[in-house]
Amino acid sequence: MGKKIRHFINLPAIGADTLKGILKHAHALKAEKYNPPQLLEGLSLAMVFDKRSTRTRISFEVAMKQLGGHTVVMGMGEMQIAGSETIEDTSKVLSRFVDAVMLRMSSHENMEELARWATIPVINGMTDQSHPCQIMADLLTIEEKLGGVEGKKIAWFGDYNNVCTTFEQAAPLFGFDLVISTPPDLQPAKLGAHATYIEDAKAAAKDADVIVTDTWVSMGQEGKAIEKFMPYQVNPELMAQAKDGAIFMHCMPIHQNEEVTKDVLNTPASVIYDEAENRLHAQKAILAWCLADAGVRVKKKG
Ligand code: CP
Ligand code: NVA
Repeated sequence: MGKKIRHFINLPAIGADTLKGILKHAHALKAEKYNPPQLLEGLSLAMVFDKRSTRTRISFEVAMKQLGGHTVVMGMGEMQIAGSETIEDTSKVLSRFVDAVMLRMSSHENMEELARWATIPVINGMTDQSHPCQIMADLLTIEEKLGGVEGKKIAWFGDYNNVCTTFEQAAPLFGFDLVISTPPDLQPAKLGAHATYIEDAKAAAKDADVIVTDTWVSMGQEGKAIEKFMPYQVNPELMAQAKDGAIFMHCMPIHQNEEVTKDVLNTPASVIYDEAENRLHAQKAILAWCLADAGVRVKKKG
């Protein structure tokens, strides 16, 4: 039996201890950002996208290169998988060319199928169900800004989407409390451990350590009506409910004056650019973990 391949697709499958170890490594790699250890020298990452991306694409590309590796970037529409080639063949062939693959793929099921055939690590660069790399960067940011995540109250506003559900998965793993405040028709039928639903946005924001939101219209949902989300807009009035020193987070891209008002973005509470930068540091630690036990040689520092 070969070693288990370290896919980074679903946070619960990876486990709390491993995820905490990856975050710890991310802090260390950030501290060494101007002298990055060449952990991934000679290794290659394929990056495949079926949707737009700025942060995910650039942070993975720069992370690989800073750690000594290489990248190949493709739009899924340019690949034979957009014709008649199967997921199985795509996965088996990618596995012969590169050492890991990161995909932004709408269908979570298709990503899991690709991982089943892969002999290299598969990294979830966002599906319609989850965005685990984003949440790792967000937790890194909360640890930096607030000194830790355990016991913190994170309040989510707006759409119940892929980023929110990944916070929900992370809550019991990292021991924070997640409050979800969305229009009532989006109230989750079943909530994860450490998560609660509060319809009233102001009540949900009360004494929160972190106020977080995301677009009301995720990619692929263009044309959706947004009026019902207005009571869940993050504005100064909502921020005033949170704890003193609370931070505002958003995975970006932002739709100003929809899910968040411009005046909130211009306050010191907003940590959105640190959060975006932390995608790079989190990505490095995720790559180092995925590749450390996948039949390729990840260099040890020094
Ligand atoms: N937050 C995030 O994933 O951004 P991109 O869509 O730009 O990659
Ligand atoms: N929920 C958003 C996140 C973008 C990074 C989307 O899926 O489009």
